[in-house]
Amino acid sequence: MSETLENLYSETRTFPPPAELAANANVTAEAYREAEEDRLGFWAQQALRLSWAKPWEQVLDWSNAPFAKWFVGGELNIAYNCVDRHVEAGHGDKVAIHWEGEPGDTRAITYADLLTSVSQAANTLTELGVTAGDRVAIYLPMIPEAAVAMLACARIGALHSVVFGGFSVDALATRIQDADAKLVITADGGYRRGKPSALKPTVDEAVAQCPSIEHVLVVRRTGEDIAWGEKDLWWHETVEQASDKHEARAFDSEHPLFILYTSGTTGKPKGILHTTGGFLTQVSYTHHAVFDLKPESDVYWCTADIGWVTGHSYIVYGPLSNGATQVMYEGTPDTPHRGRFWEIVDKYKVSILYTAPTLIRTMMKWGDDIPAKYDLSSLRILGSVGEPINPEAWMWYREHVGHDNAPIVDTWWQTETGAMMISPLPGVTASKPGSAMTPLPGVSADVVNDEAESVPDGGGGFLVLREPWPSMLRGIWGDEQRFKDTYWSRFGKGAGAGDEWVYFAGDGAKRDEDGALWLLGRVDDVMLVSGHNISTTEVESALVSHPSVAEAAVVGATDPTTGQAIVAFTIPRGNVDTSGDAGEQLIQDLRNHVAKKLGPIAKPRQIMLVAELPKTRSGKIMRRLLKDVAENRSLGDVTTLQDSAVMDLISSGMQAGKSED
Ligand code: WT7
Repeated sequence: MSETLENLYSETRTFPPPAELAANANVTAEAYREAEEDRLGFWAQQALRLSWAKPWEQVLDWSNAPFAKWFVGGELNIAYNCVDRHVEAGHGDKVAIHWEGEPGDTRAITYADLLTSVSQAANTLTELGVTAGDRVAIYLPMIPEAAVAMLACARIGALHSVVFGGFSVDALATRIQDADAKLVITADGGYRRGKPSALKPTVDEAVAQCPSIEHVLVVRRTGEDIAWGEKDLWWHETVEQASDKHEARAFDSEHPLFILYTSGTTGKPKGILHTTGGFLTQVSYTHHAVFDLKPESDVYWCTADIGWVTGHSYIVYGPLSNGATQVMYEGTPDTPHRGRFWEIVDKYKVSILYTAPTLIRTMMKWGDDIPAKYDLSSLRILGSVGEPINPEAWMWYREHVGHDNAPIVDTWWQTETGAMMISPLPGVTASKPGSAMTPLPGVSADVVNDEAESVPDGGGGFLVLREPWPSMLRGIWGDEQRFKDTYWSRFGKGAGAGDEWVYFAGDGAKRDEDGALWLLGRVDDVMLVSGHNISTTEVESALVSHPSVAEAAVVGATDPTTGQAIVAFTIPRGNVDTSGDAGEQLIQDLRNHVAKKLGPIAKPRQIMLVAELPKTRSGKIMRRLLKDVAENRSLGDVTTLQDSAVMDLISSGMQAGKSED
């Protein structure tokens, strides 16, 4: 991306907050003013949401930038903040987690139950020789023990490194080795797509390559037969027999809390390091502000896996620090049927739902009639995270899930930012479909050109963060240089330009005429077509705005005349006829539709109708793989669903890329 990014799409629809919600909102427009006047004072105020064993002396120490220290000198215990203090306040009987297993078995876990389990697990970890600063790998399905294990580590000051349960032996082994973990917490397996899916064999193979591992703690979930080795211990024979008395000692605000590996676009996974006080402050505040959480009445559900940062920040630490009641679901959205999510919403009267665009588009593909069979009237706020949400998917979410009045909060953030950074406030912001709108109070985001100058309204460029924030990453585990190179050396002081440190997020963005921010995908994905920098996101959104399209992925393929040409892979909606001439006609219609929406420069050279798209385990489209498909095969002018060769190529790539994010 040499200059700035083209701004092709314009959106005029806006949706103000429902009056009643605005009148009772946790956070009002006043928060933006307060933070504007005194950013550090604002964050200090938010840190008072937590119970500190020792107050801090300094809000921010940025003297060793880009390594930040927040709430310097303060001490607190994270598990105490997420569990004990709610029990002490008389909420021990309140349900913390309504757990729903995929086969339909359920558990209701109160804050008092959580205190018992976390204390027992903390005692067991201590008995196994785990002490403050040690690393513990967690490789579990979506069962309550995952949250218990994380909180138990936090309680004794050990760092957890949660590895997504779908990852391979290699992915698990490299992560254990990089962190030099002492212990793995796993399960025999979990349920996925109606069947038990084993985890322990993967752990056995990984541990064989990891001499640092002293013990493997195994939760019994499926009851299937598993191999048993010398290092293995059952959770129910250790944790569940341990004393439930455990004193939570306070740790320094900058004590490390966890490592979470993210692969980024290429190369060796990066162990993103987060610490204690700043992280908990920002996840707690944003969960309160962006979801307008009323802990007495709301039922919150985040559908992410605990293996991603969304699960860390918005299943475990944010909601539990706020004393929320939440739903946790083990399985897939189409087991045993495609209405499972909506059935769960109705069953638990979920009022706040937080999910991903990939899921919303899948639901669109499955058809409007499915959510229509459910009540869904309990829902009052809908969240989105993980990718840009196309305006049409946003509208579908609002109409078919949010009964045309629940505000949608499109939250932009990253594993590295630890917590939400750009998002509407549901009681304040008049939102535009597809835009994450503006930085949250206390956050300073900007869109800049190559020289780090802010682009004017209506312009596109690079998304940067200009000021440190409490939940920011504190580094990459074991690799200071990579931390500086990856995030801090593109703009600002780290690039030898000026005195300010500027964080580069790796995303393209634009600021529209009203100052709202639109995320345009990773800058590595930007296409250069006849000298124009075009974002894949805008072309994908234009395709999804056609009534016959549920989902689209766009890549720039090498082209002799235009440098790169736009190639689109498109999934039609449920009942669209794509056979023979109808398919060819649809493809021509779609090319013209894009040209009409965005201008002739964005007209795809080629569109393929496909049944599925290759995605990472966290639901992001694997564009590099599609680029290979687009470049390495002469696919002719039109290719439809009937061309099984395209699907074969896509799915062979999906198999190959399956175990990595
Ligand atoms: C990347 C971070 C944040 C938790 C889950 C993903 C993309 C995330 C949005 C959004 C547009 C988004 C960005 C970002 N992204 N949220 N609301 N709108 N793009 O965490 O795996 O670290 O990925 O996800 O490209 O940089 P992650």
